[in-house]
Amino acid sequence: MHLDVLRIRDDFPALREKVAHFDGPGGSQVPRQVAEAMAAVMCSGISNRGSVTAAERRAEHVVQEARQAMADLLGCEPRGVVFTRSATQAAYDVSRALARQWTAGDEVVVTRLDHDANIRPWIQAAESAGAEVRWAAFDPGSGELRVDALREQLSGRTRLVAVTGASNVLGTRPDVAAIAAAVHEVGALLYVDGVHLTPHAPVDLAILGADFFSCSPYKFFGPHHGVVVADPRLWEELRPDKLLPSSDEVPERFELGTLPYELLAGTTAAVDYIASLASSAGDRRSRVLESMRAVEAYEQELLGRLLEGLSAIGGVRLYGAPARRTPTVFFSVEGVPGREVYERLARRGVNAPAGNFYAVEASRLLGLGDTGAVRAGLAPYVDGEDVQRLIDGVAEVAK
Ligand SMILES: Cc1ncc(COP(=O)(O)O)c(C=O)c1O
Repeated sequence: MHLDVLRIRDDFPALREKVAHFDGPGGSQVPRQVAEAMAAVMCSGISNRGSVTAAERRAEHVVQEARQAMADLLGCEPRGVVFTRSATQAAYDVSRALARQWTAGDEVVVTRLDHDANIRPWIQAAESAGAEVRWAAFDPGSGELRVDALREQLSGRTRLVAVTGASNVLGTRPDVAAIAAAVHEVGALLYVDGVHLTPHAPVDLAILGADFFSCSPYKFFGPHHGVVVADPRLWEELRPDKLLPSSDEVPERFELGTLPYELLAGTTAAVDYIASLASSAGDRRSRVLESMRAVEAYEQELLGRLLEGLSAIGGVRLYGAPARRTPTVFFSVEGVPGREVYERLARRGVNAPAGNFYAVEASRLLGLGDTGAVRAGLAPYVDGEDVQRLIDGVAEVAK
């Protein structure tokens, strides 16, 4: 099934500004359907969750719908879906709750490929428990994170391994299923940062083998909040700090304060939107999977053109060449600071920012210090013309 990219582009009001958006890895543009769903909640009678008034029932319905939508997107149980302020918040919350069970001498493994949101919370939680931190490095040439690089860091004392589903700078997609098998062999838990993977590939929690999986709806056409999912039985084992009168049920136990109903409605609409991308019959989960396969095929084809175009320009250096990757390109232009490339592209209506994108450990290992490089990421609303504009813009900068 192919994507109808013209139709998709028409759904995104932001594209009327005629800007080519390669800034999707920082947050996607939003389709009209999502914005309307959020406005509908804000314009309807809504109050705290409950069952007496219509307004209470509406709030309850919004929450249940959003849990089901996320379950359909990720292939997990709705009761395992926890809503948070952001993916960063999710990692802090889960790490603090887990660290209560750690003792001195326990070990936590993090990687240099990850966004700092899946590194620092674990380091700080480990420090609070007297646990040790072990690092797995990726190969700076290829950008690959080998399963062995992680396996070498595992021991009988490993309690938790934190790894990304996909690098938000190099696009590398580590073999999470193989990593999960190794992690479980030593009796540890695996926390997968799925923020950059989720917009670009079908996700199935059972296939990945992740114990925890986080993502951020604002990276896949939705609003700004975070999600972390796990088996409800695993959530049951954790005791986070919480208020006395708030629910001790799972997943509510982990959701502090009142949930943002309008954002949750937007997230449900975002999942419905994804399910509609490759129109087909079936339940929402199967339509999501089919759509994401179509998204992946479309983006990989466009990525091929982008890589070919950029690598033909003298002075352009592309970082990493992982075998399995999201459509995310990290590059620099010889003699031109990344910031200048970013600004000159922006003047041509091409948004491709420069920086380390909080993947600061990766940036350092690549020899780019904290400055990083230029990042261009694809999305289903990016078309061949946009890609050509980016290539032409970079060629002009490199002259
Ligand atoms: C791979 C990855 N992990 C985590 C995050 C942080 O997400 P959030 O803004 O929801 O905390 C980002 C954001 O760019 C990301 O790309």
